[in-house]
Amino acid sequence: MDIRTQFLNHFNYAPLLAVQSPGRINLIGEHTDYNNGFVLPAAIDKYIQVAIGKRTDGNLQMAAIDLGETILLPIENIKPHPTQWVNYIIGVVFQVIQKLNQKKNNNHASLSAMMQGFDICIQGNIPSGAGLSSSAAVECAVLFILNELYQLEYTKMEMALMAQKAEHEFAGVQCGLMDMFASLHGQKNKVILLDCASLDYAYYPLVLNEYSIVLLDTQIKHALASSEYNTRRLECEQGVELIQKTYSQVKSLRDVNKEQVETCLGPATPTNKNIFHRCKYVVEEVERVQAAVKDLAVGDMLAFGKKMFETHQGLTNLYEVSCPELDFLVDAVQYNENVLGARMMGGGFGGCTINIIKKSAVDAISKELTSKYLNKYNKSLVVYTTSIQDGTHLLP
Ligand code: GLA
Repeated sequence: MDIRTQFLNHFNYAPLLAVQSPGRINLIGEHTDYNNGFVLPAAIDKYIQVAIGKRTDGNLQMAAIDLGETILLPIENIKPHPTQWVNYIIGVVFQVIQKLNQKKNNNHASLSAMMQGFDICIQGNIPSGAGLSSSAAVECAVLFILNELYQLEYTKMEMALMAQKAEHEFAGVQCGLMDMFASLHGQKNKVILLDCASLDYAYYPLVLNEYSIVLLDTQIKHALASSEYNTRRLECEQGVELIQKTYSQVKSLRDVNKEQVETCLGPATPTNKNIFHRCKYVVEEVERVQAAVKDLAVGDMLAFGKKMFETHQGLTNLYEVSCPELDFLVDAVQYNENVLGARMMGGGFGGCTINIIKKSAVDAISKELTSKYLNKYNKSLVVYTTSIQDGTHLLP
């Protein structure tokens, strides 16, 4: 059912606005965003939709249609909530209120209108925990609709940064900017090269011709994923501090080359192995993305795909954020002539692999892997053939 009808059924009045915000894939450039490196994401054909209407009693009523849950909270005094989906909404509401308070005089009308409260309902088809950034899509959808409703005039980049802050402060994950950036800035059939240091970005058409992007969802959602994610981030920061002892001008791993990693952090010993390996991976990956974009520009998808496999090896052996199920799926297609590239995608410890597979072979490969995966892990593999779509936008 469309989101406006859902809203009407739930709240008994018609919403004022409706918005759709997509999930994302990332072709290459993993765990590079919070190291000021490059990423190459795109928005996909899976999305979150929200609809909104105004209240006058200072409350915020949120209905998650897919979960059948509704929660009412006063809009004053927002703080992190025990229910995680609520945090994705109130986390960005909090950012807006804070920002409006900072420049209260100019935005008095918007702030007082917003503090009257609103009803919001939400639904979507992005599988959660699959590494497709459903939480970022919720945050971006809510921010975008508030931006429209209260005429806040935020740019997409401002909204991406606010959503990232919400994730840090309300969801407890010290994520980078990629997911929110991609959800908001996506364009049909294009990938976006984002320089996470300067925040400059450029669109590249992804011409796949006889190939498709296929996501293979392990159905594994590791509880440790967010704490391990935060640990990786810390290890990279520790690496930077060690490198700064010799190269004081270095601000992040983006400024570091392979030789500097070797001389300042290597060789691996039992005590420094982790920091050395994490930094080695990041520096190699930042270089790899830049080379991969050159492949893309000249249409050499064979070379591009090879780099995806290299990224996977780095994520498994050096960054150690893969898991046996992800490795199994990548290994299974590594030497298949119909597969240009494959790797785990996103934060890791479960979720999906991203694969570039010849269209004519997708069915056979999916069938074969589904049966092998079931035999080995007693779990059913979920296969999504995905397409690249526009970013967050208003719905009619
Ligand atoms: C998660 C984070 C992103 C990014 C990826 C890894 O999706 O939210 O910011 O760090 O992991 O590339």
